[in-house]
Formats: sequence, structure tokens, C-alpha cells
Amino acid sequence: MTGEKIATVILAAGKGTRMKSDRPKVLQPLAGRPMISYLRESVQTLAPEKVVIVTAPGGEAVAAAAAPAVAVVQAEPLGTGQAVLAARDALDGFDGDVLILFGDHPLISPATLAGLVAARRAEPEPAVVVLGMRMPAPNEYGRLILGADGALERIVEVGDASPQERALSLCNSGVMVVAGRRLFGFLGKVGRENAKKEYYLTDIVAVARAEGLACAAVEDEDVDELVGVNSRDELAAAERILQGRLRQRAMAAGATLIDPDTVYFSYDTVLGRDVVVEPSVVFGPGVRVGDGARIQAFSHLEGAVVGPGAAVGPFARLRPGTEVGESARVGNFVEVKKAVLEAGAKANHLTYIGDARVGKGANIGAGTITCNYDGFTKSETDIGEGAFIGSNTALVAPVRVGDRAVVGAGSVITKDVEAEALALARAREKHVAGWARRLRERKRAKKGGKGKQGG
Ligand code: UD1
Ligand code: MG
Repeated sequence: MTGEKIATVILAAGKGTRMKSDRPKVLQPLAGRPMISYLRESVQTLAPEKVVIVTAPGGEAVAAAAAPAVAVVQAEPLGTGQAVLAARDALDGFDGDVLILFGDHPLISPATLAGLVAARRAEPEPAVVVLGMRMPAPNEYGRLILGADGALERIVEVGDASPQERALSLCNSGVMVVAGRRLFGFLGKVGRENAKKEYYLTDIVAVARAEGLACAAVEDEDVDELVGVNSRDELAAAERILQGRLRQRAMAAGATLIDPDTVYFSYDTVLGRDVVVEPSVVFGPGVRVGDGARIQAFSHLEGAVVGPGAAVGPFARLRPGTEVGESARVGNFVEVKKAVLEAGAKANHLTYIGDARVGKGANIGAGTITCNYDGFTKSETDIGEGAFIGSNTALVAPVRVGDRAVVGAGSVITKDVEAEALALARAREKHVAGWARRLRERKRAKKGGKGKQGG
């Protein structure tokens, strides 16, 4: 008996030339993380005994992103069949089911993978089960050739297909499950006498059939999850599908998205109940938004925690390390980085707060800047509970403003301000009565009275 064991081989040694990138294709990001992470996560739901990733030479970054998978190297990209052969030593002695996946097909769901494995284990225990998809011709996919009984007979690559075969719509998604104890025997019999002069993994179906073994095709109705990423264009298509899923997930969890298609999520965005997200908001990685908070239009959040009932935006930017407390408010054209705004604190307009704490209920006036960087090091600003910072204040860090202190508008504060104190740091204001009139009269007299009144 082959048992319940599963191993996975992920192929990622292809050249990815159509991407025209210095970055390995499977490390291209989708919704804020490398493509390969999605596949790794889905595969993990099957609790595989082993995961092997096949990379090209120099594929250390890919191997690291797929860790703790066993990384093996395919020296030369001579086809998908030869790529799987590179995993032979890593799977030595493994007699469970081997699930073969392409690293550039990132969106396949755990349920589909589980279904495919189940089909391999069901009577008549086919030696190979291939995941098929209906695609309108013409297209570049391999075609699944079924026998009269509906069983899978062979797969023909498009370059080797007859016109009748090309007209078939059931195509190879690239995903298959193979009985592990037979896999490398099959591959040993695969040659490269074909249009591409490559070792086709797909040829193992004909090899298995020639040995009198059954093979099966399982059709996947959800073609979106089988999308392959070979070009920037297809990367964008995969992103669209993924964003669609993330929007659905947010709404299913109780958030209102006023115009879902304009909101961009990261794979890990968490929105609470009754959160409202207005149009054109971007969530970078690492954002959590508490119940009842409102994220207004055109805001950009990344690595930030927004407390319940808080309001952010419109046009706000929350950078990593930001915590907006309960019912606190970050208004338009405010940037916050590595700073905590405690409950009820407010920074409503045109402000930069970095490396700072803003105490409970404190009010930050328009145009306030925490001057956290002197060109060499970053320093901290600490603003106490209930403090009031007047508009256009520069707080030169490191500096502290005590609880309930007031800083006058236009101040440049370089020394700590005591609790309950007033700090003012600007030139004394001077008014000179009649000065403007006297100036005008003097100038006019010089020009011989030709000057215009009030000019
Ligand atoms: C393959 C299938 C085709 C299927 C299609 C689905 C074969 C022979 N053909 O064709 O039936 O319809 O995918 O998208 O399998 N790779 C390696 N080493 C290699 C070659 C490829 O690791 O030497 C990897 C690639 O990185 C990629 C995957 O295998 O992740 C598929 O390779 P690709 O060249 O895209 O295969 P297709 O020609 O698209
Ligand atoms: Mg391909």
C-alpha cells in the first residue's frame, strides 16, 4: 500500500525569460509577498512529508524563500520531465504520492490539491492523475487525450499536436499526482524526440498506459486558480484574481468596501467588523484595522495597527511601526512612522510624526513636524497626555513635552517642556503704529508724487 504519505515537487528552474527581470520569476510579488509563498502555504495544508523545490543554478534566493523545502538544482533546463528527475535523490525511498506543481502557478487552492490526491487514492488507484482545465482554443497548453471510457490516455504538447488534437479544449494545467514508487521508473523512459527537444513530464502518462496502468484526468472548473505567470501581463492578471479574493475575504469578515475594485490589499491585511474603507486605499503588508474604524479615501497604510473606532485619512500615510489608538484620528496629508498615537489623540492636518509617542487625547496642530533625523541618527519625541502642540511647530528630537503642556504655534522646541507649562520659541512679535503710512509717504515724495496710491 502506498499509504497516506505525500511529497511535493515544485518546479522553478525555468528561465522565465518572458518576464524580462533580474529577479527569479517565482519571487515576483503578488499582494505583497513572493509568488512562491502562496504555493508553499497551500502545499503545507496537505502536511507533506517532504517538499522539494527544483531551482536553476544560482537559485539560492528561491530556495531560501521556499524554506524549509529541500532545494535541488537542475543544471540545465531540458524540460519539465528532467526537472522532476532532479528530485530523485531527495525522494529516495519515498513510496507515497508525489504531487508535482509549477512554481509559477501560485493560486491553486488547498481544496483542489486535496481533491487531486483523493482521486489518486480512489479506485482504480490511477498511477497518474492530472488536473485538467477547459480552455478555448487556440492556446499554448498541452491537450489531454481521453479514451472512450473517459480515462486519460496521453498528453500531447501543443507543438506536437495534430490539428484535431489542437481543437480539443481539455488542457493540462500542469498539476499532477503520481504514485511515488513508480514516478522515476516512468521518467527513465521519457525521451526528447519532440518539437522542443525537451524531456516532457507529460509523457509519463503514455509510459504508464503502455505498462497497462490506469491514468485519470480531473477537471477543475475554477480556471482562475490555475493561472500561470510567464509575463508581466500574466503577473497583473494573477494580481487581479488575488485582489478579488482578498476583497471578498474582507467583506465576508464584516468590512464595508465602498468601491471594492479600487482597494488594494496585502495577503495579510486584517480588517475588523464594521470597518469602512473608502475608495482608493492601499494596504501594504502588516496592517490590522480594529472594529468600527474608518479608512478614508486615498490613504496608504503599511505595517500599521489602527485601533477600534479610529479614523484615518483622507490622504493619510501610515508607515511601518505606526499604532493609532482607539478613536484616535490621523487626518489629511499626515504621515506617521514608528509612532504611537494613544487613544483619542489627534493629528488632523499636514503633519509628520516619526519615532514618537503622542499621549492620550493630545492634539497636534497643523504643520507640526517631529524632527527625528539629524542626518546621522534617529531620535525620539515624547508628547504627554492631553498636550496641545500649536500649528507649525518643529519638535527637535530627542525632546519631551510633558502632560497637558501647551506649545505655542510656530515654535521650534529643542528642550524638554514641563507638564502643564507653556513653551513658546519664536521671535517676539512687534507692531509699529503708522510705520506703513510713513514709508509710503517718504517713497512718494522721492518719486515726485508719481506713485500710485496703495501701489
Ligand atoms: C507545461 C506543460 C503543458 C501545460 C503547461 C501549463 C510540459 C511538457 N508541458 O508547458 O502541458 O499545459 O505547462 O502551464 O510539462 N521548468 C523547470 N525546468 C525545465 C522546464 C520547466 O523547472 O527544464 C519549470 C518552469 O519553471 C515552470 C514549469 O516547469 O515552473 C513549466 O514550464 P514551462 O516551460 O512553462 O512549460 P510549458 O511549456 O508552459
Ligand atoms: Mg508555462
